[in-house]
Parts: sequence; structure tokens; C-alpha cells
Amino acid sequence: MIRFEHVTKRYPDGTTAVDDLSFEVAEGELVTLVGPSGCGKTTTMMMVNRLVEPTSGRVLVDGQDIADVDPVALRRKIGYVIQQVGLFPHRTVLDNTATVPALLGWKKAAARARAAELLDLVGLDPAVYGSRYPAQLSGGQRQRVGVARALAADPPVLLMDEPFGAVDPVVRERLQNEFLALQATVRKTVLLVTHDIEEAVRMGDRMAVYGQGRIEQFDAPATVLGAPATPYVADFVGSDRGLKRLAVTPVTEADLEPVPAGGPAATDTPGSRDGAPDPVPLGTSLKDALAVLLQHDKGRLMVTGDDGRPLGVLTPEGVHRALRRASAPAPAPAS
Ligand SMILES: Nc1ncnc2c1ncn2[C@@H]1O[C@H](COP(=O)(O)OP(=O)(O)O)[C@@H](O)[C@H]1O
Ligand SMILES: [Mg+2]
Repeated sequence: MIRFEHVTKRYPDGTTAVDDLSFEVAEGELVTLVGPSGCGKTTTMMMVNRLVEPTSGRVLVDGQDIADVDPVALRRKIGYVIQQVGLFPHRTVLDNTATVPALLGWKKAAARARAAELLDLVGLDPAVYGSRYPAQLSGGQRQRVGVARALAADPPVLLMDEPFGAVDPVVRERLQNEFLALQATVRKTVLLVTHDIEEAVRMGDRMAVYGQGRIEQFDAPATVLGAPATPYVADFVGSDRGLKRLAVTPVTEADLEPVPAGGPAATDTPGSRDGAPDPVPLGTSLKDALAVLLQHDKGRLMVTGDDGRPLGVLTPEGVHRALRRASAPAPAPAS
């Protein structure tokens, strides 16, 4: 859906912000661009909606070289969320959200109905918040309005530049989770810029780890954490990467041992300090599964399938096997 081909950007003062960048984002994929300040993330993103033009190389959106596409027409297909949100202070939340449909010439009633629908989708009751002004919202609520506004015209592509950077860690985590739930239904092609490795790992289907103007590794988060491509990446993802990897690796059937002959109850160890832990469903993160294992002083944990029936038993050895599996290099996506 988005394709960079040998893209270089040199600013007039001679700064090379991006150097021979090539990568591809599949339709419906969320890719995070992560790296230290000044490494070229925002420049990369702005070359997708032509706020910045490449010095050399090509950027394609939906198979089309965007150098040949009228920037205004291009931006209609691309939602844009930035940290400072950029809401109009003298317009209500509803009118802010309806901005793009209104620009596209929708009838006022239709634009407002769509705006109300989007506010609902990002967790803001339009009856309560629609008539407020941006100054009457918390930072997290303003950020939600920014997301609603970017989605209002239903663009296939969404660019998000440090979208949750301005709010405190608790609100940030809530916004991240809300956005992931939203993305599971709307399935946009998303580029999300962040300098926060945790955010990149949590949000990305894949992540691009930037060095100075270059991508050092472009892989699934579990692979970046488990098998950093370069010493730079290893250093950037930090020394507790094993723990971070646990959080992004789900329990699969291959990690389980058979349910014991005596049924689920047989996983109870006689004399343990409490009852059997509740089973966890397949797909639970290893981090959560391990937490349950440790909390209950058990060496075994029942894992259930979609139908709620026991599928098998997870042990610490299974957790280790799962980590091994998760750090194997991911296959390259089809282009
Ligand atoms: N308009 C500009 N003119 C000159 N240099 C710029 C301009 N915009 C960004 N840069 C420089 O390009 C490099 C990359 O910037 P940027 O893409 O904003 O990085 P990031 O978003 O990763 O922090 C930095 O060295 C920055 O100072
Ligand atoms: Mg930036």
C-alpha cells in the first residue's frame, strides 16, 4: 500500500534527513517508525502526503508514484494525526471532527452525522462532548478527537506522528489500547512515528528501527526484540528485551503439552498454597500467562481454545520454546 524505493531527502541546508530508504507497508498493516530524535522519522512520514518532497527515489501509494498525484487529492486519502493535534480552538468538537467531510463537500447534516459516529467510535459521547470546545477537554480527549477527525473521511491510509506523546503514561496506555481495538475493526494502513520503544513494540505489526537517516531493522516486534539485527538495535531496544518480548508473544498450540489423563483438575499440585489458577485462552501473551503461573505457585497452566475447552498445558519449558519460536526471523511479506 505504501512503498519507498531508494528515497533520499536532503534539506537545502545540506542535512541528509533520510538516506536511500526502501521499505513497504502492506494494506491494513500498522508499522511503527521508532528511533531517537532527529533520525528522520517525521521526514519519512511527510514524504507520504507530500508535505516534504524526496530529493531522489520514489514513494508509491496504492501502486501509484505520488509525484504524479495532485497533493490535495492525495491528502484526501490519507488521514494525519499529530502530537499537537491542531484542533480549531473556536470550533466545537463536532465541527472539528466534521472538518474533512465538510471540505469534501458533504451536506452539513451528513458531515455532522459522520462526525458523531466517529466520536462514538473513539469513546467520546457526541451528546456530551460534541458541543464542547477543545479547551474544555483533557489532553487525552483532545487526542481522541484528533484520531476521530483523521478517520472521518474514511481514508485508507493513516499517518500518526507521536500521536500519544503529549499525555501522561496512564492515559497513553489507554489511548494505545483504544486505538488498537479501533484498528482491529477499521484496518487502515498505518504509519505511526514514536521515539518510545515500548509503544513501537506494543502497537506495531512490524516496526522500523531507525539509525541516523536509515532503517537498521524492519521486522515483527518479537523478532526485533529476540534477534536484533545490529548492535545498535540491540542497544536501542534495551537490556530487558526478553521481558518486552514476552508481552508481544502469544501462547500457541505448539507450546502446549497434552492435558493429563485425569482431566484439568490433575494439573493441581497437592499441597499448593491456593486452588488451581483459572485457565487462560489461547492467544494470551506469554507475559500474562507467566504472571498467572508465578502468582499461583504452579508449574502448569491450563490453556483453553475458542470454545472454552481445555487444549493443553503450558509449563515454563513451553514458555521458553515459545520465545525461541518468536525470535526466529519472520518471512518477508509478499510485495
Ligand atoms: N525543514 C528542515 N530543514 C532542514 N533540516 C531539517 C528540516 N526538517 C528536519 N530537518 C533535519 O532533518 C533531520 C531529521 O529530522 P526529522 O525527520 O524531523 O527527525 P525525527 O522526526 O526522527 O525527530 C534532523 O537533523 C532535522 O534537524
Ligand atoms: Mg519527529
